[in-house]
Amino acid sequence: MNPKKLMTLDEFTIQETRKFPQATGELSALLRDIGLACKLINKQVLKAGLVDILGKHGATNVQGEEQMKLDVYADETLINILRNSNDCAGVASEENDDFICFGDEYSVNSKYVVLFDPLDGSSNIDVNAPIGTIFSIYRRVSPLGSPCTKEDFLQPGNKLMAAGYVIYGSSTMMVYATKLSVNGFTLEPSIGEFCLSHPNMKCPEKGKIYSINQGNTCKYNDGIKGFLDYCMESNKEEGRPYSHRYIGSMVADMHRTLIKGGIFLYPADKSNANGKLRLQYECNPMAFLVEAAGGVASTGTENVLDVMPAELHQRVPIFIGSKNLVNKALEYVNAKETVA
Ligand code: AHG
Ligand code: MN
Ligand code: MN
Repeated sequence: MNPKKLMTLDEFTIQETRKFPQATGELSALLRDIGLACKLINKQVLKAGLVDILGKHGATNVQGEEQMKLDVYADETLINILRNSNDCAGVASEENDDFICFGDEYSVNSKYVVLFDPLDGSSNIDVNAPIGTIFSIYRRVSPLGSPCTKEDFLQPGNKLMAAGYVIYGSSTMMVYATKLSVNGFTLEPSIGEFCLSHPNMKCPEKGKIYSINQGNTCKYNDGIKGFLDYCMESNKEEGRPYSHRYIGSMVADMHRTLIKGGIFLYPADKSNANGKLRLQYECNPMAFLVEAAGGVASTGTENVLDVMPAELHQRVPIFIGSKNLVNKALEYVNAKETVA
């Protein structure tokens, strides 16, 4: 038997809390609740390949249970668990047009609101490629004792208390960041706990992988096209051409970018003036995490975390990852600001 003590997510957050005498442990409890929801989502993700056996969305299975689409299941699971938590005043999600205020006698006194993309990369479910859940945690700005308000959800990323993601891949991991550090926890299936496996994660300063939907090149402006040419140029001293990797699931592409370094970009293009990805539950949580790990995240014109959100489902272009490649991309974008 291995005598090495496993450090669970819960133990870790409690120990972190002890460093701050004024901390109440509510944030730890919230992370535990999000972790629990993600363990339930993970269980359904593992069954996704059995869809032909168990039945598709809308169909009734042999037990008479209606099968739910994974996005919907993930969304409802997070909402239900956070509604029952003592520490969440309300949530906003990719799957719901408006935010949801819990508003009961306990929730009106809860300090935090949570935003999430319950299932990111859902087009990858059918091909058994990694998918994930992304979350953002803000301290509410509306007064305690009253229902939460839209302003609680429309705070810029630089006001985040914590953010993270869970990746359902070859193993299931939660990676979460506070301003102090980024830590990764791998789900140990035999005990059903997330255990610290990647302490104090750092995004390498220099990376050699660029990650973009290169099939959209005809729609990009000259700045982006110039950067892509730079990535593909041969230059032995710098070890170029760089490698291109694109899974099409932001969580999976960002997980690789965080660990191996490089850049992930989803720029504006001819058909999407603000790119595709959502500020409040895709770009901000990833930007917060990458900055806490020593990397950078920009919209092309400003730091992602400084964007003042105007609406819940707002999109922004994103350039995120290792300093060397993000800064290089920004040089091209800012030098050739021609609209395609
Ligand atoms: P979601 O599944 O939550 O709608 O997100 C999909 C996103 C993101 O995960 C990924 O980075 C991006 O879509 C890929 O878009 P393209 O297929 O346009 O490259
Ligand atoms: Mn998504
Ligand atoms: Mn989604």
